[in-house]
Amino acid sequence: MTNNIVNSFSKLTIKEKQAFVAQLISQSDIDINWLQGFISTNKQFAEAFTELSENTVSSYHLPYSIAPNVMVNGKVYHVPMVTEESSVVAAAAASAKFWSQHGGFTVESISTVKLGHVYFTWSGSSHEVTNNQKGITDTLIDLIKPTTQSMEKRGGGVLSASIESLPAVQPNLFRLSVRFETVDSMGANFINTCLEEMGNGLEALFAGKAQVVMAILSNNTPECLVTVKAKCSVSSLAALNQDISGEQLAQKLKLAFDIANADPYRATTHNKGIMNGIDAVLIATGNDFRAAEAGAHTYASSSGTYRSLSQCQLQNDTFSISLTIPLAIGTVGGITNIHPLAKLSVGLLGNPSAKELMTIAAAVGLASNFAAVKSLVTTGIQKGHMKMHLSNILSSLAVDDKTREAATLHFQNRTVSYSAVKAFAENVKGN
Ligand code: MEV
Repeated sequence: MTNNIVNSFSKLTIKEKQAFVAQLISQSDIDINWLQGFISTNKQFAEAFTELSENTVSSYHLPYSIAPNVMVNGKVYHVPMVTEESSVVAAAAASAKFWSQHGGFTVESISTVKLGHVYFTWSGSSHEVTNNQKGITDTLIDLIKPTTQSMEKRGGGVLSASIESLPAVQPNLFRLSVRFETVDSMGANFINTCLEEMGNGLEALFAGKAQVVMAILSNNTPECLVTVKAKCSVSSLAALNQDISGEQLAQKLKLAFDIANADPYRATTHNKGIMNGIDAVLIATGNDFRAAEAGAHTYASSSGTYRSLSQCQLQNDTFSISLTIPLAIGTVGGITNIHPLAKLSVGLLGNPSAKELMTIAAAVGLASNFAAVKSLVTTGIQKGHMKMHLSNILSSLAVDDKTREAATLHFQNRTVSYSAVKAFAENVKGN
């Protein structure tokens, strides 16, 4: 294989980068114009999208959808979701509608404290650090006042700090842990700036003794938690399936939730169903869904075993589901004000506070989770998926309306596969 290394790619103009990529593909219709075709013709939007990252050659599109009627604490939201996975929005919407007819989702508790750490080594007696912990942390908190002042005016800032030793890693290793309140911003930049300044301060105060290894926020946010809940009478579950009674469905759902709580194999997939909804809301609102994912899965493991993030309870005639999840997200800062659709999303939700967005995202996560588990214990997941899968295959085959209609009817009770749909479409065309 020849040397494929490209030098100074970042220095090329966007057109040169597009030309480079196009010549890598041996498909004659993929050229600069093809790649450019996905970039908005609106100059302002084009700049907003392409400048979010480096080495951009095109713009990658995903559906921007709405899950209507998500009721949280009595307020109805029509929630924007961005996902490529068919059925996620339809399932969340159907579930949200059902729960809106039963009082919607309620917020049980919420907290928003975020954490960050400075790892440092100490050459000298470790007692110098442990015996003087409060003095060191107070000094560092004072030192970064110029940076924290404006956040304090908005109601946030540094809440507290402490130092722990980490002898299991290395005898002279310490961790400065800082707790932050960042109000309506996710606060990653603010937190990391504070931590780096604290690290620099530590090295300056204790020159020759303290040496910083790294300073970074933690995506493990067990104090930035939201719990949402929904409940209905057992009998009202009957509306969700024609074949079994409300009581039978409640029992099946409860067992499925209990399996997810006990079996990490199932818990992982169960939690993925929650994140299907949450990630889609976070992407739509310009939030860092990777951070939420990382935090959620650590939280799911906090008992020592990976468990489900949501629970189900069955008491007398009351069926309830709840979800507790860490969500370090924001409604100001980040790309929320840069990405036109993220800005629209936040506007559509009525410019919520970060806390309010946490509750909306968690409610959509629980709605998605409920919809998935309900399908699993009744019709199976493939029925809904296959409907969308068929539609996607028909789109990729660029069929006309007549063929689409015929195929929808034909595949109602048949197995959908690309080859079967292609053969059917060709047959319709041939007749
Ligand atoms: C698929 O994206 C999500 C599900 O697997 C979730 C679940 O199994 O609960 C259907």
